[in-house]
Formats: sequence, structure tokens, C-alpha cells
Amino acid sequence: MNFLELIKIRQSVRKYSDKNVETEKIEKCIEAARLAPSASNAQPWKFIVVNNPELKNKIANDTFSTVVPFNKFTLQAPVIIVVTIEKPNVMSMIGSRLKNKEYKLIDIGIATEHFCLQATELGLGTCILGWFNENKIKKILNIPKKKTIGVLITLGYPCNEYIIRDKKRKNTDEIRTYNKY
Ligand SMILES: Cc1cc2nc3c(=O)[nH]c(=O)nc-3n(C[C@H](O)[C@H](O)[C@H](O)COP(=O)(O)O)c2cc1C
Repeated sequence: MNFLELIKIRQSVRKYSDKNVETEKIEKCIEAARLAPSASNAQPWKFIVVNNPELKNKIANDTFSTVVPFNKFTLQAPVIIVVTIEKPNVMSMIGSRLKNKEYKLIDIGIATEHFCLQATELGLGTCILGWFNENKIKKILNIPKKKTIGVLITLGYPCNEYIIRDKKRKNTDEIRTYNKY
């Protein structure tokens, strides 16, 4: 599979089979994330792998409510990765301040996508989640109050009747220009 093919089959997976994910495969995804680039090589991230079924369900339950139920599918996923944003190094912090850019958010976005693409190559499905009850999840996992959770990633084998959807994206002409805005 070439890289663009891998990108095309990576999609948010919201239906999972109950097959467990092998630890070696989880570790491979973590390795892909570990090798991601970051501002001043700060690597401002930690990845908490939640694969204990009871604990995972507790986390899943904090990603949806009766009013906002769209993340209920997380209960099906055998693994949830909690990506915390860690303190960057001094160079990155200074650069961030001077240039008014949230480098650490950019960094965890890149690492998260590395994780997801590696998972896709291994036949696994992922969905990045930005909607969750951060305080409750921090309590469950004993994450210090002052830390921030960037995203969660669901991980598991897609269910059998899974199909690759067409990507709904802006046209190239809407997003790309040469030599001018
Ligand atoms: C930062 C971020 C937060 C997201 N939050 C959620 C979420 O809470 N629930 C969900 O079902 N999908 C979530 N998504 C997935 C997006 O909806 C999805 O990536 C987008 O619609 C494109 O679809 P695709 O991933 O299938 O290509 C999130 C994606 C990103 C990058």
C-alpha cells in the first residue's frame, strides 16, 4: 500500500468488533506516535492506553450524554487512548509565546495522526475524539488537575460489514493556491 492509499482508507471508525487488540499492535501505534515531529522536538504528549474493559467503559461513558449521544459508539471500542498535553521544553514554550502559536496543540495533532495511520496499516480502526468530559476522565485515571487532555482515540478492529466511505472534503481549488493567498 502506498502512502496516499493508506490515507484514503484511514477513516473515523464508529463500529467495532469485540475482538481484542494485540498489545504488540498497540505498541506499534505508540511507536509511530513517538516518532512524530514537534516544535523544538518538545514531544509534549503522553499516551494512556486504556484497555481494561471496566476502566475503558468508564471513560467511554464520559464521552456522551443523553443530550449529546453521538459518541456512544465508544462503548464498542476495546481500547481508548487518552492523549494528554504535557509541558513542552523551554524553546517551544518561548517560541509559542513569541509567535503566538499553540505549538503543543499542533504537536499532539501530528502525533495523533501518526498513531491513527499506523493503526490503519495494521487493519485497525480509530476515531479521534474531541468531545468528552475532561474532568471526569482525569479523575478516573488520576491525571493531575493542571494537566490537559488533548484528544481521545478509540482503537479496535472495525466490524465485519465495514466499508470505506468516500471522503467528504473541500475541493483542491478551495484550499490550494500558488504564490498568493
Ligand atoms: C480534533 C478532532 C476531534 C474530533 N472529535 C470527534 C468526536 O468527538 N466524535 C466523533 O465521532 N468524531 C470526532 N472526530 C472525527 C471527525 O468527525 C472526522 O475526522 C471527520 O469528520 C472526517 O471524517 P473521517 O475521519 O472519516 O475522514 C474528531 C476529529 C478530530 C481531528
